[in-house]
Amino acid sequence: MNNFVFLFVIALCGTRVSSLNVERTNRIAGGESAKPGEFPYVISLQEISQLSTYTRGHRCGGAMVTARHAVTSASCVHDRTENGQFVVINATAYRVFAGSFNLSVDSADRNRNIEKITVHPDYRPNTPYVNDIAVITLVGEFPNSVVGTIPLAVSEPTQDQGSICQAAGWGSQNGTSSASTQLMHRNKTVFDQAVCKGVYSTPVPGFTQINVENSMMCALNPLSPSCEGDLGNPLVCNWYLTGILVHHRNDCSLGVGSFPEVYTRISSFRSWIERTSGASTFQPGMAVLGLICIVQIVTAKVLQ
Ligand SMILES: *[C@@H]1O[C@H](CO)[C@@H](O)[C@H](O)[C@H]1NC(C)=O
Ligand SMILES: *[C@@H]1O[C@H](CO)[C@@H](O)[C@H](O)[C@H]1NC(C)=O
Ligand SMILES: *[C@@H]1O[C@H](CO)[C@@H](O)[C@H](O)[C@H]1NC(C)=O
Ligand SMILES: *[C@@H]1O[C@H](CO)[C@@H](O)[C@H](O)[C@H]1NC(C)=O
Repeated sequence: MNNFVFLFVIALCGTRVSSLNVERTNRIAGGESAKPGEFPYVISLQEISQLSTYTRGHRCGGAMVTARHAVTSASCVHDRTENGQFVVINATAYRVFAGSFNLSVDSADRNRNIEKITVHPDYRPNTPYVNDIAVITLVGEFPNSVVGTIPLAVSEPTQDQGSICQAAGWGSQNGTSSASTQLMHRNKTVFDQAVCKGVYSTPVPGFTQINVENSMMCALNPLSPSCEGDLGNPLVCNWYLTGILVHHRNDCSLGVGSFPEVYTRISSFRSWIERTSGASTFQPGMAVLGLICIVQIVTAKVLQ
């Protein structure tokens, strides 16, 4: 009896762990355009009134972290009004598209309207790139047969330097368009944090200086820089969501870049994302379940 209760509790405790793993199939190294099912967690944040255009109202990238929550940058969900004020975009005027490698191949399973947008409470639009992260809650879940999720990185800030990661999204391929109609992916190498901080604290004519904080990270592919429409794109290292693109400074029309790109470091915001979306095994609900597990085990022992 005791063993039975214990096994039941273990089974109950384990259910949530397996459900959030990303699809690891269909992965093709080397290519630039994504294959069907290759990046099932990548989203396109789209303005509904622009869906009839060639680029389908694409505004920014992002990543699904649960079947109902996407992570993107806070700057992606802000508009600047005529008098210079920043306002959060009207959630009902936008939607999230995912689960396709062709922006034009849409279906009921591939788009969801937005219930609410939660911007990080410490994001200040006038201090860009700091706490530059937002969670988009959809009105309903995507089916997991069409759209996948990506687990959040846990690693310490210094562990990933030099790693080769993948960035995928719908940004323009050449700077002449505002988006690409094909989902593209590129390798990016994680850039030394101190060197990146130095690069962005050096005055460059025409560019504002950035204080690269530890809650940001940098990555670069000199032959494949990010372009218009790439903001919010996920940087995935070792199958974990590790960064969200918040700034790029290269001239992508030339297809070369020497400035490292700046990403929000996901591990710094992991607990906030978890609290906002439930994207974790360590959520409040699990803590309660864990407590019930312990109570049940103790009770079972007492009753023995
Ligand atoms: C991306 O990096 C992987 C190693 O992590 C490598 O096998 C692959 O060839 C690279 N792709 C490109 C397009 O450079
Ligand atoms: C938000 O957008 C919807 C649909 O486009 C519109 O009906 C509504 O008035 C907008 N709300 C605000 C506050 O602008
Ligand atoms: C994307 O889909 C559209 C509409 O079905 C099609 O015309 C276009 O050729 C597709 N593009 C690619 C790259 O598959
Ligand atoms: C730029 O990219 C767009 C969209 O992918 C494509 O239609 C266009 O031909 C490209 N232009 C050049 C000059 O390569």
